[in-house]
Amino acid sequence: MSAHLPKSVLVVGAGGREHALVRALAASPARSRVICAPGNAGIAADAPCFPIAADDIAGLVALAQRERMEFVVVGPEVPLSLGLADRLLAAGLPVYGPTADGARLEASKVFTKQILLKYKIPTAPTGIFTEVAPALDYLRKRGAPIVIKADGLAAGKGVVVAQSLAEAEAAVRDMLAGNKFGTAGSQILIEDCLLGEETSILVVVSGRDYVILPTSQDHKRIGDGDTGPNTGGMGAYSPAEVVTPAILARIEREIVRPSVNAIADEGIAFCGTLFIGVMLTPAGPSVLEYNTRFGDPETQAVLPRLATDVLALLWAAARGELASVKLAVRPEHALCVVIAAKGYPDTYPKGDMITLPAASSLLPDAVIYHAGTARNAAGQLVTAGGRVLGVTALASTLREAANRAYAMCDQIQCASKYHRRDIGAKQLNRR
Ligand code: AMP
Ligand code: GLY
Repeated sequence: MSAHLPKSVLVVGAGGREHALVRALAASPARSRVICAPGNAGIAADAPCFPIAADDIAGLVALAQRERMEFVVVGPEVPLSLGLADRLLAAGLPVYGPTADGARLEASKVFTKQILLKYKIPTAPTGIFTEVAPALDYLRKRGAPIVIKADGLAAGKGVVVAQSLAEAEAAVRDMLAGNKFGTAGSQILIEDCLLGEETSILVVVSGRDYVILPTSQDHKRIGDGDTGPNTGGMGAYSPAEVVTPAILARIEREIVRPSVNAIADEGIAFCGTLFIGVMLTPAGPSVLEYNTRFGDPETQAVLPRLATDVLALLWAAARGELASVKLAVRPEHALCVVIAAKGYPDTYPKGDMITLPAASSLLPDAVIYHAGTARNAAGQLVTAGGRVLGVTALASTLREAANRAYAMCDQIQCASKYHRRDIGAKQLNRR
């Protein structure tokens, strides 16, 4: 790894993922100055925050220059797809996070599907449509259950796993004729429904070099037992033991290495996180999607397990020195419970007071990451988003990590507090 590390880092974003990044970067032995834009109330306790929105590309570039940042780490997908990394690189600033051509791997599901098919990377059979009639024909031929996806970014809401043809037809009409997702839905994919458990494979990529981070599993549905609508993610744990060493080796051989090479072969100089959503089907692992950033809340469970200096890791990726990195991982299990505002992912209140346990009463190896939090005019901590906090605990067993995380959740007071009770249950019940 590079002996020289940047003395200053700007983290872009405002969620739990960014809080975990800020904490990890600030813990580097390099003792660099870490700042964040726009951040949230919890990040502000760890790093100076600047009120520049994550999609204000010109504002962020100006901030990085004015604050003499040596490195920028971008959290969310939207600034990446708007070309933030391109603009920073053009200004001579090293950045972790792909340029807009790489961000298209998340911003366009059609683009990704074409790459997966071209390079024969395992993925569900798919039809691509812009017109209602041929889409309905295809649906009727394939039958239900079936999956309808809007091409573009839809904040995690552009995917319908339809259990019946009627539901599938309604989704096709909503997207192609009803303009439900605007231009994001003017092209759709219709995919065969895959069965199995999902896992999140986060890969730090720099050109053709990559480092696979510890495995994790998200909980996408709002309700216990994976019921109710999809969300951004209600909790995560790491490692995901369903990914045995043999399965991970297969994922690397059949998915990770071919994906990284395909992206490079397509002429994309990718630097950043390639987050591969993988379905573990009976026929083998299959790609559900690429994201081009860290997962949220996977990051809140994965980063605390790294013994490797995260700043050195991301810097090595930005400098093209990733091949020299050997990842060191703590053996403990990590589990993160997301506390949301009641009503999420639909409408929910904002501005509800939050009372956190005193720092002195936090359990060892436990951390409360902030996501949708702010300070009101009176300086009180209040809710400001759908996902409010992420409570992570590490312990020698997943059971103990869950016990500790939930013990902390119980100590958090907030009128609109909601969280799942069963994060980690799939793995806990498997034993
Ligand atoms: P995506 O944004 O493509 O990851 O889709 C969101 C969620 O929809 C995934 O995490 C899966 O739970 C589900 N999903 C997507 N594609 C499929 C598929 N082909 N079969 C079954 N479930 C899927
Ligand atoms: N947790 C899934 C995501 O970040 O998209």
